[in-house]
Amino acid sequence: MIVFGIESSCDETAAAVVEDGWRVRSNVIASQVALHEEYGGVVPEIASRAHAECILPVVRCAIDEAGIALGDIDAIAVGHRPGLIGALLVGVSAAKALAWSLEVPLVGVDHIEAHLYAPLLDDVTWCSDAVYPALGLVVSGGHTALFRCTSPTAMERIGTTIDDAVGEAYDKVAAILGLAYPGGPVVDERGRRGNERAHDFPISRLSPVSLDFSFSGLKTAVLYAVKGVPGRGGWDANAQMELNESAIDDVCASFQRAAVGALMMKLKRALEQWESEAPKSLILGGGVSANSKLRAEVAALGNELGMQVRIPTMMYCMDNAAMIAGLGQHRLKSGKADGLDLCASPRGVHA
Ligand code: KG4
Ligand code: ZN
Repeated sequence: MIVFGIESSCDETAAAVVEDGWRVRSNVIASQVALHEEYGGVVPEIASRAHAECILPVVRCAIDEAGIALGDIDAIAVGHRPGLIGALLVGVSAAKALAWSLEVPLVGVDHIEAHLYAPLLDDVTWCSDAVYPALGLVVSGGHTALFRCTSPTAMERIGTTIDDAVGEAYDKVAAILGLAYPGGPVVDERGRRGNERAHDFPISRLSPVSLDFSFSGLKTAVLYAVKGVPGRGGWDANAQMELNESAIDDVCASFQRAAVGALMMKLKRALEQWESEAPKSLILGGGVSANSKLRAEVAALGNELGMQVRIPTMMYCMDNAAMIAGLGQHRLKSGKADGLDLCASPRGVHA
């Protein structure tokens, strides 16, 4: 079965062709990073316009790269929630037009659930019984959440951030330090060179049993360490850190120790609190799953516990349509096709 996937929830216009739920025949992504760079974050109106301009060339390119004809497509899958509404509408409209004109089924896919499917792509050997039940962690620019997963299409959220997402914290720390946007990759790289004990940034535990996350205190701690604590007259110029290269590396390393430390602590807590059949694997997904420290620590935890670890290859960490098409096939198989009245929604199924 050939599923054509479309993704446009944030700042990537993407289309992909996936065969039988795993074999990625094409995976085309038009990134808008350059357009949003000067604003230090995604500007929704600019994103929607860029999606409208890019969607048709991206769709064409995905079909050409896969070496298929339109008539070979068996179904259309589209990321329809959560995300920026104007951005989602472009992808959903294109998906409906394709499904209607090709007379094939349409299926809506939750973007967050799709991130947890990304590590299963390109692997013909995985089977549901070997992977599930699984503990899933989604870490991205807009989301940080833990899931108890019983299949690619069935999961229950057991923890989420009460304020910022971890990727957002990476991006804001980079902005505080005057580093490039998006901040994740550069903070990751600089952090590898720095001393992670240089600053004692807080790891948010919330209550002793909570599986929720909080990153706003960590972000503020970095801000105060760099700029000093603001007083009545604003920032005291004398209290500001001298941001030479090694000072920046040290802030990045110390921030990463706390950010990744918080994620690892909640993963371990979730495993301790797990009831019923023990999880067989740890599944990671979302843009921050590209982080070198997080990847290494999750792999080490899996090793220590004798659990399978599923981490996406780098190209499937970021937003992409292959994960949408792959999961779309599973939704279709379980009878979850949608009609042309499918709605885009800013809220996800697990919001
Ligand atoms: O999943 P994604 O592409 O978009 C959303 O759905 O939000 O994630 C983007 C986020 C950004 O915040 C970016 O800074 C972060 O992923 N990111 C990273 C790394 N690469 C991307 N964060 C930490 N370390 C990285 N290597
Ligand atoms: Zn995402």
